[in-house]
Amino acid sequence: MSTIVRTPANSPDTHCTPEEYKARYQRSTEDADAFWLEEAKKRLDWYQEPSKAGEWSFDPVDIKWFADGSLNLCHNCVDRHLPDHAERVALIFEPDDPATPSRSLTYAQLHGEVVQMANALKAMGVAKGDRVTLYMPMVIEGVLAMLACARIGAIHSVVFGGFSPEALAGRLEACESRFVITADEGLRGTKTIPLKANVDAALDHDGVKVDGVLVVRHTGGEIAMTEGRDHWYHDVASDADCPCEEMGAEDPLFILYTSGSTGKPKGVLHTTGGYALWAAATFHYTFDYQPGEVFWCSADIGWVTGHSYVTYGPLLNAGTSVVFEGVPNYPDHGRFWDVIAKHKVNIFYTAPTAIRALMREGDDWVTKHDRSSLRILGTVGEPINPEAWRWYYEVVGGSRCPIVDTWWQTETGGHMITTLPYAHDMKPGSAGKPFFGVQPLLVDNEGQPLEGATDGNLCISASWPGQARTVYGDHDRFIEAYFSTFPGRYFTGDGCRRDEDGYYWITGRVDDVINVSGHRMGTAEVESALVLHPKVAEAAVVGYPHDVKGQGIYCYITTMEGVEASDELYAELKQQVRKEIGPVATPDHLHFTDGLPKTRSGKIMRRILRKIAENDYGALGDTSTLADPSLVDRLIEGRQNR
Ligand code: WTA
Repeated sequence: MSTIVRTPANSPDTHCTPEEYKARYQRSTEDADAFWLEEAKKRLDWYQEPSKAGEWSFDPVDIKWFADGSLNLCHNCVDRHLPDHAERVALIFEPDDPATPSRSLTYAQLHGEVVQMANALKAMGVAKGDRVTLYMPMVIEGVLAMLACARIGAIHSVVFGGFSPEALAGRLEACESRFVITADEGLRGTKTIPLKANVDAALDHDGVKVDGVLVVRHTGGEIAMTEGRDHWYHDVASDADCPCEEMGAEDPLFILYTSGSTGKPKGVLHTTGGYALWAAATFHYTFDYQPGEVFWCSADIGWVTGHSYVTYGPLLNAGTSVVFEGVPNYPDHGRFWDVIAKHKVNIFYTAPTAIRALMREGDDWVTKHDRSSLRILGTVGEPINPEAWRWYYEVVGGSRCPIVDTWWQTETGGHMITTLPYAHDMKPGSAGKPFFGVQPLLVDNEGQPLEGATDGNLCISASWPGQARTVYGDHDRFIEAYFSTFPGRYFTGDGCRRDEDGYYWITGRVDDVINVSGHRMGTAEVESALVLHPKVAEAAVVGYPHDVKGQGIYCYITTMEGVEASDELYAELKQQVRKEIGPVATPDHLHFTDGLPKTRSGKIMRRILRKIAENDYGALGDTSTLADPSLVDRLIEGRQNR
């Protein structure tokens, strides 16, 4: 039996009681079209109301929601709130350095600023349907840039500011983006990130063709500007009238690159109407958001969590969203709780890796700050271990605040499995129950559905409005990645257990994707970066359990004939990965070996490499099919020696 933590008694205004959850969930799956049409009309403003909800098939793969409706997402996030909530705070900016003043924007001010940004984009020549790449620090202008794209019908592609110029170049090229929005520099703790210089380096790559770069002045640091191509935001912004573009519900809203098992990152495409509804509805229910509450999601807008829960979800609900530039341990380990006290945050949403890192520093950093404003806590990005859950619940939340452990993915647009506050009891380490309309299905390795309490591969058997529609420019890859392992079903890539109470426990990826500090990383991407080094013959990368990061990156390397492993090579290879991908992908372990375990047909046996990296030698399984069985002993020895 797993532990159950009772949810507090219903709050008087809760959006969902236990009974309401049951009734709504049932209706959302049995009468999905009527349910989602109602939700769509209730939560969004349409120019043309849709007459149909889902029109989809997973075989062949073709997904549409609300296809005959039209709307504008910026209008829904900003303009429509002006009559009633013009003076409500929309965004609170908390800078990296707490000594720098914070700044907030009301909805009226947000409207003024978004119009300026949209006009700046138009002045650069951005038109409906153009891809615009954002490479931004966590500042209000990042959110403005997303909204401004939505306003004029441009498709944003946000690239996390921690990615390298090479990674940025790859993403610019892949979606043929001709425009970039960036800042002079970003700040994270004591580090300065040379964003504009990185953009310049990315634009030097063959295949990247950018006509305009919009630069926001943030730190005031010295940067180079290329005449005719680069424009200071403050020079081209204007407050001329800028109406919202009427968009079809299925017009693309954004592309977000994410790692998969194979090849380069995929440009996951979300469209306007379904995504908007999913962000709005999940924010409303999962966080039980009440008018006037201050919501803080600590994710960067470079990840999907920032898209849905820094920008779109809160603003669609006329909420107040905190935009935090800094890091959890600067200037000290109490920064999160200091920000919560300062801005009277009611709902806080962060990643297990941050919780684990802060837990190590002791309770005093938390308890010395006033957390009485907190009502609900959330986690996302990776499984949370029960110990960290307990600490978050008891120390941070004072055993008062329900925790929502939200399982979802870039491809799902928003929450898919989570308990709802006041509607469900919690089990530390379990994400909980499916959100409305979500039909999880566990299957065995042959694709046979499994019933009741069981372990399996997590699929979703029916479409939901927030589902990604395709991989930008490559629908075959979309089908291959998500619908080919178990035909007719969306396969998440995650393993999962369902317990006797119908609670879902995500056990981690079952494909070649690893999750490092809540960031998705394709092992194939890290391998490609490593083998670019002239002294490397072959590389195989696996994840292994890491106390703080969840998973660490473990790389097996064979060198070219005659090359000796050395400390110098070790350092060069780490640097190589940082250059190709970015600091997020820095290997934790490099294990030089004289060979990789392969079958006689030459396939690398990753299972064995994973077990050795995990220091789990009892479960190596059958090694008799290896071309060189003695290699395993040498690999184990190499592992134990470090
Ligand atoms: C993992 C982040 C356990 C999972 C929103 C998924 C989780 C991948 C949870 C998606 C959770 C996300 N519990 N695992 N609450 N949330 N994951 O696309 O493996 O960056 O497939 O989206 O993160 O990562 P992505």
